[in-house]
Amino acid sequence: MTIFNEKIDRLKTASVKWELMKDIFGEEELLPMWVADMDFKPPQAVIDALTNRVEHGVFGYTFVPNSTASVIQAWLKKRHNWQIEPSWVRYTSGVVEAISAAICALSKEGDTVIVQSPVYTPFFNMIEWNKRTVVNSPLRLVEHKYEIDFEGLEQELQKGCKLFLLCNPHNPAGRVWTKDELLRIGKLCLQYDCLILSDEIHSDLIFKKYRHIPMASLSKELSEKVVTFISPSKTFNLAGLQASAVIIENEALREQFNEELKRRGFSSLNTFGILGMETAYQHGEEWLEDLIDYLQENRTYAINYLADHLPNIHCIDSEGTYLLWLDCRKLKLSDEELRNLLIKKGKLALEPGNKYGPGGEGFVRMNLACPREILKEGLERLKIAFT
Ligand SMILES: Cc1ncc(COP(=O)(O)O)c(C=O)c1O
Repeated sequence: MTIFNEKIDRLKTASVKWELMKDIFGEEELLPMWVADMDFKPPQAVIDALTNRVEHGVFGYTFVPNSTASVIQAWLKKRHNWQIEPSWVRYTSGVVEAISAAICALSKEGDTVIVQSPVYTPFFNMIEWNKRTVVNSPLRLVEHKYEIDFEGLEQELQKGCKLFLLCNPHNPAGRVWTKDELLRIGKLCLQYDCLILSDEIHSDLIFKKYRHIPMASLSKELSEKVVTFISPSKTFNLAGLQASAVIIENEALREQFNEELKRRGFSSLNTFGILGMETAYQHGEEWLEDLIDYLQENRTYAINYLADHLPNIHCIDSEGTYLLWLDCRKLKLSDEELRNLLIKKGKLALEPGNKYGPGGEGFVRMNLACPREILKEGLERLKIAFT
């Protein structure tokens, strides 16, 4: 039996996904398939390393040792064929925090930042809360697959955008951008002198037919213009340890980013974040391969279930991430109605699509990273909500 079938009670662990439902959805007794974390334990090696560290018992100030960047270097080379130098790596406690710091470091108030909606909500927040302006170049849904509107993108870039906030792989569209697509984005950004902030947090969760390509790995010219965000938090379900890495080859940009972290008073990751990150990248690969198989089976199960029982809901065929993006527009319900039916009738907590900006209306996002039994239960509830 696979370890991923184990149902683990997450109540009383201060789990956002399981214990903040009343605050967000107004009800307690829902099945949570919203926040993007997994209901699985991480690789055993991570649990063992953390347990040993807890038993040591002294938790004074900690620094990130040089070995951590070397482990990240080896992981990126092996998994994504990207050769970085340890000296390019910086750390923050989260990718959203890193995006915020990069926006502040590399642009000024009033500057414009491009996003491609529908996209992860904090992209909008980090731009707006830092007094920059969102410029949206919406994705196009062509025959159930999201594509980039390159003409529209060029028109926006021509107006003089400072930063492009790229989501690769894309949450919630489920696209793992191809080399051609990335090269076209890169070419345009170089042409119009726009730096690329590449959020690659989902880059290790790629289904078997596809391959993640780090934007910065495409050429020397591009790597000088790209800031990349990665984290073991999605890959190994370590979000609660709060450790992520930022990779910047360009020395001047790296220095600007450093200065911003200093202004924020950031000095180091926490003891457990460092250890969890290093151990996971060093010893978690086999676990990850099994996880991807399991997620892929969950995805197939969900797609088949929807086709059989809810033909009016179309599931966008994701290429990576553990998030399913469900096109419910044929139901002809408003976002408010969708939300109410899911909560009141289905007893399900799902992310409403309109949270992801223009183009998200009429969609909902479902998190597949749970034991199959929970997934089955969730799909049954979805059916109850909409029949
Ligand atoms: C694209 C993307 N970036 C960042 C995050 C969150 O990163 P962190 O928890 O490290 O701030 C998520 C979480 O779902 C995400 O989907």
